[in-house]
Amino acid sequence: MKNIVILISGRGSNMEAIVARCADEGWPARVAAVISNRADAAGLAFAREHGIATAVVDHKAFASRESFDAALAQTIEGFAPDVVALAGFMRILGPEFVQRFDGRLVNIHPSLLPAFPGLHTHKRAIEAGCKVAGASVHFVTTDLDHGPIIGQALVPVLPDDSEQALAARVLVQEHRLYPRAIRWLVEGALRRQGGVVRHAGGESQLLWPTQDAAPR
Ligand code: GAR
Repeated sequence: MKNIVILISGRGSNMEAIVARCADEGWPARVAAVISNRADAAGLAFAREHGIATAVVDHKAFASRESFDAALAQTIEGFAPDVVALAGFMRILGPEFVQRFDGRLVNIHPSLLPAFPGLHTHKRAIEAGCKVAGASVHFVTTDLDHGPIIGQALVPVLPDDSEQALAARVLVQEHRLYPRAIRWLVEGALRRQGGVVRHAGGESQLLWPTQDAAPR
């Protein structure tokens, strides 16, 4: 049984999707802990209600980024993680932390990386006139929102899209993509060669939009 540790900073809807798929699909894994840098992260309540261990490592209680990273790493290690999933975890993690969990540390970002790392991805995609947006799950490296891509989900940008409408449609696809990527990790199905990640069994690493997300 593999241990998944999920890091959140807020709502935690991706974390919820992972918890649900893990149970529904009977993965050889469990969500061992949900950890937040914010005590008021809404997702912590969901985790507690589902009997999942929670912890808070408040970044504001630390004098330096390094000391926060070290305390966070120690808390994570307490749950013997096989996978550490950043799910809306809005802190930048330093090189020592990234190195320590290399190969086990993944992130979801709401854009088709390497386009639009950072914030306001949907607004930037609309303003750039993109016809397609989406989400990416990737191994974490020291580059912000960048690293070997495990899977991507496509979402069309509609002519009259608002940032909120696009974000909502991308989030639906995030909830399909992230659990699938985590399942591949716990199944040991991924092969990483340099910057390229392949599913050993040939499962598609690209999720196409579902019918309800198709352009009009
Ligand atoms: C998600 O859209 C996720 O892709 C994004 O934050 C949101 C968290 O929502 N992550 C990033 O922007 C990371 N750079 P959630 O808390 O409901 O899962």
